[in-house]
Amino acid sequence: MNRRLSVLHGLLSLLFAWSMFAMPAYASGMNPCAANPCAANPCAANPCAANPCAANPCAANPCAANPCAANPCAAKIAANPCAVKAIKRPAHYTPVTGDHAALARKGKALFNDESLSPNETSCATCHAGHAMFKKSFIHLYPHHVDMAKGKFDIDPIHLDEMVQLCMIVPMASKPFAWDSQDLAAMVAYLQDVQRDFIKEQK
Ligand code: HEC
Repeated sequence: MNRRLSVLHGLLSLLFAWSMFAMPAYASGMNPCAANPCAANPCAANPCAANPCAANPCAANPCAANPCAANPCAAKIAANPCAVKAIKRPAHYTPVTGDHAALARKGKALFNDESLSPNETSCATCHAGHAMFKKSFIHLYPHHVDMAKGKFDIDPIHLDEMVQLCMIVPMASKPFAWDSQDLAAMVAYLQDVQRDFIKEQK
């Protein structure tokens, strides 16, 4: 009986010793997750990263507190005030102007440029031949767009804001600088696309 007890005791000590050996990995704060979900933090490709929002929710990365928690930025871009702020025209905004034909030419090139997105996607990947434009596209801007209202509660939306929205969401990229010629070029080209779209709908 005593012998059995001492064997049991020996086993328990071994287990204890093993757990002491294994514990420090947790105790010293090492990440118990093999693949840290924070590594693929969508906030990185998120305008929050670039956009100097006063209260940037991505700055206080919730992954820091709990490395295994699913990153709420992934699911809730809609609730992300930085994304809304990045899409909405800034105060005192004056769009860049210039020769329409020249801007539209540049805009067409940008529209087909896959390097604008980290996923080798261009605007044309979705919108070639007027694909994916809904009926709302026939209306003069600003107007209601389902995706803008549904995802960001922006209603109505301007054309340049729509460009920024598609840069951030489907393109998974950064918005254009508001004072950039690229944004003006994209808008000029889309005005031409919209004119053709309206003709096509008639
Ligand atoms: C992955 C697909 C995808 C890509 C890439 C994409 N878009 Fe869109 N875009 C959509 C969808 C879907 C809609 C329709 C949204 C709606 O009507 O609710 C849309 C709608 C639009 C509209 C019309 C909104 C209206 O007035 O009805 C414009 C303009 C637009 N996109 C511009 C762009 C530009 C510029 C780019 C590139 C920077 C781009 N899109 C890239 C999916 C995409």
